[in-house]
This record gives sequence, structure tokens and C-alpha cells, in this order.
Amino acid sequence: KQVKAVADKGTEQIAAVNETGAIQTANAQAEADRAQQEAERLTIRNLDKVTKKSEAYIDSMVKRVGAEISRDYADKNLLLVSVLKGSVVFMADLMRAITIPARIDFMCVSSYGSGTKTSGVVKIIKDLDINLKGYDIVIVEDILDSGKTLHYLVNLLKSREPNSIEICTLFDKPERREVEVYAKYKGCDIPDAFIVGYGLDFDEKYRNLPFVGVLKPEVYGEV
Ligand code: IMP
Ligand code: MG
Repeated sequence: KQVKAVADKGTEQIAAVNETGAIQTANAQAEADRAQQEAERLTIRNLDKVTKKSEAYIDSMVKRVGAEISRDYADKNLLLVSVLKGSVVFMADLMRAITIPARIDFMCVSSYGSGTKTSGVVKIIKDLDINLKGYDIVIVEDILDSGKTLHYLVNLLKSREPNSIEICTLFDKPERREVEVYAKYKGCDIPDAFIVGYGLDFDEKYRNLPFVGVLKPEVYGEV
């Protein structure tokens, strides 16, 4: 009875203010915020397989690759070049798994073409700050797919005459390769599926997931 009274009172109050239109606006905003939050929460349901276990697995791969690079570059002049934005999470973890002196730099490229395929035409959005002469470059990539992006990047960076240049990729989809690219350092091979999380995006979303998931094909089919 008491609850009903309070509810009625509340309804009355809301009705009163509604007449002025003030609360209506506030309610619409709150409703929109709630809808936005719900939509964000639901995006995870677009993943076919959310492999929470991948967090621990990725961690072990990153440590292993970090140790390999630390061993191979102990007497060299290591410069890690992260390819934004996808490799930013991998880069952040990898550089801390490297136990020798290292410098870092970032490059932002975008492959023309939307959705889940690269066109092979690479646009440089942000170039490196550091002159590559005298450095032993390791390009840090999130995922190697057709190979077009890295093929282009390796040739571009080679023309700047560093001491040496190698590729480090967290994931590799060898089945999808269209141009030859050799990654000396690699987390693991994965089958031909579109994955998101741990830096990897679909339409700029999902990058912040700490684990990796397989995106449901109907999600990118819609684009
Ligand atoms: P490639 O030029 O075809 O090798 O494409 C490499 C780029 O495509 C990566 O750096 C990613 O940005 C993107 N990419 C390829 N496969 C995936 C995936 O499964 N998930 C998210 N992004 C991907
Ligand atoms: Mg991408």
C-alpha cells in the first residue's frame, strides 16, 4: 500500500513537471543514454566465440616472442615500429616483455577498403618520427592477412636504409596470403576467420576487449 502511495506520488510529480516539458527532455536523454549503454553491452553478443582463455594464451605468446627478440637483438640497435591502430595493445605488452634496450615509434596506416578486406592500397596517415638509418627495425603488427599492408610497409621502410628489418606479428592467417611476406616473429597461426579484440577492430569497435573473439559473419555481412 505504502509502495503504491509512493509510486502514485511520483507519478503525480512527474506528470506535473511533464506539463512544463522540462522532465520530458531529461527523460529522453536518460533513455538515450540507457539505450547506448545497452547497445555497447550487447556488442559482445556479436562474437561467435569469446575465448576468455585467449587472455592467458596471448600473454604467454607475447612473453615468448619478447624473449626471442631480446635474445636476437641484444647486440643490435632495436627500434620497434608499431603499426597503428591494431597493434597498440600488442605493442604495449610486447615492449614490456623485451628485456634489452629498445626504442619505439609509431606509424599509422590505413588500407583503403572497408569491412573485412584490405585493398592493398596503403595510405600513410602518420609517418615515423625517427630516421631509420642505423636501426634494426622490428615491425610490430597485430595480424597478417593477405600480406598486402606489410608487403607495402616493408618495401617503404627498406628504402629508408635501416640496418635490418624484420616482422613480428601476433596472429597470422597463412591461408589468406596473397603476396609473400615473411614474419620472423609470430604469436600463432589462426584459421581463416575474422577476429576482434586485443587491439583488433571491426569498424573501429571491439579494440578494447582484453581477449579475442570470432566475429559472427552476419555482423560484417550487414556492412
Ligand atoms: P592485410 O594487408 O590483408 O595483411 O591486412 C592486414 C590488416 O587487416 C591488419 O593490420 C588488420 O588491420 C586487418 N585485419 C586482417 N584480418 C583481420 C581480422 O581477422 N580482424 C581484424 N582485423 C583484421
Ligand atoms: Mg583494422
